[in-house]
Amino acid sequence: MFDVRACADQDEYGRAIGAIGQYFNPPPSEEFLERFAHTLPHERMHAAFEDGAIVGGAGAFPFELSVPGGSLPCAGVTAVGVHPTHRRRGVLRSMMDTQLRDVHERGEPIAALWASEETIYGRFGYGIAAWAGELSVPHEWDAFAAPLEAAGTARFVTPEEARELFPPIYEAVRKRRPGMMSRSAEWWEGRHLRLPEEETAAPRRFVVLELDGEPQAYAVYRTHFAFDGGSASSRLSLREAFGATPQAMAAILRFVLDVDWMAAVELALVPPDHPLFLLLATPRRMRYRMADGLWVRLVDLPAALGGRTYGEGGPLVLEVRDAICDWNDGRWRLEGGACERTDADADLALDVGTLGSAYLGAVSFAQLREALRVEELREGAIERADALFAWHPLPWCPEIF
Ligand SMILES: CC(C)(COP(=O)(O)OP(=O)(O)OC[C@H]1O[C@@H](n2cnc3c(N)ncnc32)[C@H](O)[C@@H]1OP(=O)(O)O)[C@@H](O)C(=O)NCCC(=O)NCCS
Repeated sequence: MFDVRACADQDEYGRAIGAIGQYFNPPPSEEFLERFAHTLPHERMHAAFEDGAIVGGAGAFPFELSVPGGSLPCAGVTAVGVHPTHRRRGVLRSMMDTQLRDVHERGEPIAALWASEETIYGRFGYGIAAWAGELSVPHEWDAFAAPLEAAGTARFVTPEEARELFPPIYEAVRKRRPGMMSRSAEWWEGRHLRLPEEETAAPRRFVVLELDGEPQAYAVYRTHFAFDGGSASSRLSLREAFGATPQAMAAILRFVLDVDWMAAVELALVPPDHPLFLLLATPRRMRYRMADGLWVRLVDLPAALGGRTYGEGGPLVLEVRDAICDWNDGRWRLEGGACERTDADADLALDVGTLGSAYLGAVSFAQLREALRVEELREGAIERADALFAWHPLPWCPEIF
């Protein structure tokens, strides 16, 4: 079998990340690896060894994830890869097993990831927990249903200014929205504020919007210049736009939509309840395409379920199947926001991954019943579970890690 353990030094770290790195063009540079280690420490990068050679790697960023009504420590699973010479021999399974035990020991109740393919992670107890969509707003169809009176002042800022101005706005949004990860100063720097060399031709721009003299919204975008038949056909690719209030969010979106020369504004990773759907007069022109976004794994079930807020109702008894984290397997009673083991008869039976899908509120138990994912053992239990778990707004994970 393969020996799986955390990386001991930067050399092992580079080789472990190289397992996925080889699938990218170009493979990660030394400089990239050094920067990456600021957010993914060596001890959070596992390597799979065979006869001393590293044949696979799996990492986990330590951050917090917003959950309904709160925020919990979360393992942000990343950089998972196995050498093509060793595929389908159980390397991934060994790494997932070791990683989940490590996450549990560290006291992180949940793990989350973006999957390269939807078929990989269900077997390890992950479930689709947030939706992510792409859309493109054509300039000729970008009017709001109710015209927005121009308000506030937008101005470009340097990355240094953005470092001070953007995080509080992001945090204000994160307080309300499940599915958003906390961002350390290193994360902001490495992921969002640094101007990468490969973007030199179309650098990202940072805009802050002040309302009543206060910075209340920001946008990060790139423009891709083009003229077609004598007319401007450029595209604006919006990396991120957030407003601390609905007014601020609408104003920053209006700002972005009004940039001249753009034939379209493109957004990615947006949730199905993004404000643009109702701000725009003609939302169907955006050609929204939805797919799975964040996947969640409940690693410590009572801590995870006990760490979010619920609607009215209860108690609810869940019979949870978990073949990997066997400490979760069995019957759990949820009442008053607390989750405890019980011998009582169960109301619902489901896999831990299915419960992960319902956890942030993206998927209802009624939907899970339609998809044959949950067994209703007592009449009315699905409706009772939905009354407890339903949450607005929907989860939104605005970046792939
Ligand atoms: C995906 C990848 C990590 C799988 O590694 P692996 O060592 O071949 O996987 P394992 O042999 O441990 O397989 C474990 C199980 O997952 C299944 N599986 C593995 N990769 C799969 C895939 N891409 N699609 C569907 N099932 C997959 C295996 O069939 C096996 O199923 P079983 O337990 O029912 O027998 C590897 O193929 C890889 O590095 N791919 C390219 C990079 C990538 O996609 N990484 C994931 C980033 S999110």
